[in-house]
Amino acid sequence: MKILLLASSAREHAIASALSRSRHKPEIIALCTSLNPGIRALSTEQVVMDIMNFEQVAEIAKRTKPDFAIVGPDDPIGGGAADMLAALGIPSVAPKKNLARIESRKSFARDILKKYEIHASPKFKVFSRDVNSIGALMEEKKSLFNYLDQYLHGEYVVKYDALKGGKGVKVSGEHLATIEDGVDYAIDCLNECGRVVIEEKLTGVEFSLLSFVSGTQVVDMPAVQDHKRAFDGDTGPNTGGMGTYTDANHSLPFLTTNDLALAKDLNRRVAAALLEECNEPYRGILYGGFMAVRDGIRIIEFNARFGDPEALNILPLLSSDFVDICLAIIHGELRENLVSFEKKATVCKYITPRSYPTAKEEKGQIVTFPELRKDVRIFYGDIAQDDDGSLRLGGSRTAGIVGIGDSIAEAERIAEEACEGVRGPVRFRRDIGTQKLIAKRSEMMQALRGH
Ligand code: AMP
Ligand code: GLY
Repeated sequence: MKILLLASSAREHAIASALSRSRHKPEIIALCTSLNPGIRALSTEQVVMDIMNFEQVAEIAKRTKPDFAIVGPDDPIGGGAADMLAALGIPSVAPKKNLARIESRKSFARDILKKYEIHASPKFKVFSRDVNSIGALMEEKKSLFNYLDQYLHGEYVVKYDALKGGKGVKVSGEHLATIEDGVDYAIDCLNECGRVVIEEKLTGVEFSLLSFVSGTQVVDMPAVQDHKRAFDGDTGPNTGGMGTYTDANHSLPFLTTNDLALAKDLNRRVAAALLEECNEPYRGILYGGFMAVRDGIRIIEFNARFGDPEALNILPLLSSDFVDICLAIIHGELRENLVSFEKKATVCKYITPRSYPTAKEEKGQIVTFPELRKDVRIFYGDIAQDDDGSLRLGGSRTAGIVGIGDSIAEAERIAEEACEGVRGPVRFRRDIGTQKLIAKRSEMMQALRGH
């Protein structure tokens, strides 16, 4: 069994690690944006390359003849890596380009939800540039202003209509101070994409539910909560994600049974809508990003891949065979009984360079990790390895450290202790997974829902 893995981060180290536990003992051919010591240790061949160079990916695929591919990051999925590989007769655990628009085009995602009457969006409107009419630009500015001001009362979110490395969404009161700022950013988006999505700004608590999907066969993973802000107490700029947790019951402490059931149902309805809309089954990971709000849950976004760090929490808990799940996704034979997760809680804390995400001052400096207990996992991200084995910081997130325990509190203590042992000019968020932070989320939900 040979598997081609397109990789850019610690997420794919977690994927490679889950693959390597399989009874199929697969050979992994890893195509990576940078040399990843974790993936290298688990693969038979690692090629450092531009994974958006599909010609080169195709050459390697033809030479190595993998049984299937797993495409980890959003850019190659959104760019059609699965289509290119399918043309070579290689199936992928990743949706084709058309289906991946659920992530790569925010307007497509909202329009699909509307068309298939999946009523879980905030108020939204897609603005498209009308290039033909005279005076259109003045009109455009006026209608954007009116929508933000009159309809959304200044509580808005502006979404770039293409992939932008997680930086395309700007929120009023956080990234955009005034209505004029919102209009300006929306016009930048229109200039670049010809379309922009404007949404009502929701108040609530965010969570993610990832599912394995093959057409209308959908099997869920444990729900996860991510922490995007750079510093403790959810302060500072947004990052790729500073850490995540899951609970032993595979729900989250602030969610009701109904909230989770609604999220599961939404992932199923979206998978079915995509099949109908695109006439082709979605085969891969569907990541629903939700917000629990006053009267239920709303959809923030969908991603067409595993999350980073979400995969770092989820995959170590997978107690069934990941290769079997991949084969079932590819062949349309996905069933609940192929997928089982340990009833354990996890807390992942990302170690990052001290100046992340604003600068890369520590790049190239040495970092060392402690001896790990057996209930700790480490997944390498932006980190380089010298010939003598020593590890050096890149500019981005260094490594995700995951504690596994019977409760979130226990998993948190385990992760925290391991993070404490890391030496180098690095930092991590101490508050992720702590009882104090979780109590804050639950209090917010109680305040919103009035009980
Ligand atoms: P996305 O790239 O769609 O995940 O958006 C990035 C972040 O923007 C999300 O994690 C939310 O924190 C925030 N966000 C997106 N849409 C909304 C919305 N309608 N209301 C409030 N916050 C939002
Ligand atoms: N952790 C957020 C993401 O992977 O999109």
